[in-house]
Amino acid sequence: MVDLSVNMFGIDFKNPVFAASGTAGYGIELVHYIDLEKIGALITKGVSPKPKSGNPQPRIIETPSGILNSIGLQNIGVKRLIDEVLPELEKYDTSVIVNIFGDDIDGYINVAGAFLNEDRVDALEVNLSCPNVKEGGIAFGRDPKISAEITSAVVEASQKPVIAKLTPNVTDIAPIAKAVEEAGAAAVSVVNTLLGMAVDVETRRPYFKNVTAGLSGPAIRPVALRFVWETARAVKIPVIGIGGITSGKDALEFIMAGAAAVQVGSANLVDPGVISNVIDEIEDYCTKNGISDLKEIRGIIKEEI
Ligand SMILES: Cc1cc2nc3c(=O)[nH]c(=O)nc-3n(C[C@H](O)[C@H](O)[C@H](O)COP(=O)(O)O)c2cc1C
Repeated sequence: MVDLSVNMFGIDFKNPVFAASGTAGYGIELVHYIDLEKIGALITKGVSPKPKSGNPQPRIIETPSGILNSIGLQNIGVKRLIDEVLPELEKYDTSVIVNIFGDDIDGYINVAGAFLNEDRVDALEVNLSCPNVKEGGIAFGRDPKISAEITSAVVEASQKPVIAKLTPNVTDIAPIAKAVEEAGAAAVSVVNTLLGMAVDVETRRPYFKNVTAGLSGPAIRPVALRFVWETARAVKIPVIGIGGITSGKDALEFIMAGAAAVQVGSANLVDPGVISNVIDEIEDYCTKNGISDLKEIRGIIKEEI
């Protein structure tokens, strides 16, 4: 028997394969395609203190190897998530992590505080890739000091395990990972989307109103894997690997690089049943290779230079 369970920050997850924020709706949508109770954890679409209508169309385009999105963090707001979504998720024996963000530090505190008495929520994942309007739209997460400030404020306001979700749009991720670890993060999610852009040569205009957009999917996997390896060497808290995972083999690469768990994102948009396959493929690999616990391979290449 292969034991795929993973304990992180005091929570037992059935397996290390989670649904990445924004790619599986609020979770309830996935029920039509997948056994929600099979996945390690569901991470809901990011919510802010107030609902957001997001960016104008187009919001997603395909590139030859991944997708560019400029959703603009559209969401139903924290109140509706608590009133409408959590009672639905209550029906399933699945770990729930809520992804949150704010326009400023008070916004993060406000949304985090709303979960103080929500026992259905196992942890909060803090999206640090949001634009810091005051600083000209540069993501909060590019600054270790602000990342740490937001993390400790959310820990205090929510009293929940806090997973800091890091942006890959930095030269060096290690100081940011260390800063959030010191600020009380229970884990780090690595990574969010990479900044990219696309131009429509017919109109001679950028496709997206904001010009740049977030690149995700198989195109970013090698870069994300490198960030996970660098982060796992820098911190002691668990690293949750994200970026272009579409198969069990992809997930195993992240686990061998030091990830305690992984998230499947864009692949859900292609096949909403993919997470189930990823779990089965990891299990098959372990059976074939005589691995009874993922601990045996987790981080096995972490120290290699
Ligand atoms: C359509 C879409 C919406 C997303 N929304 C969020 C979000 O609300 N919060 C967040 O932290 N990340 C969000 N992400 C980022 C993903 O959770 C993930 O970090 C990223 O897509 C990289 O993983 P992937 O290559 O497997 O998609 C979104 C990604 C996509 C494609």
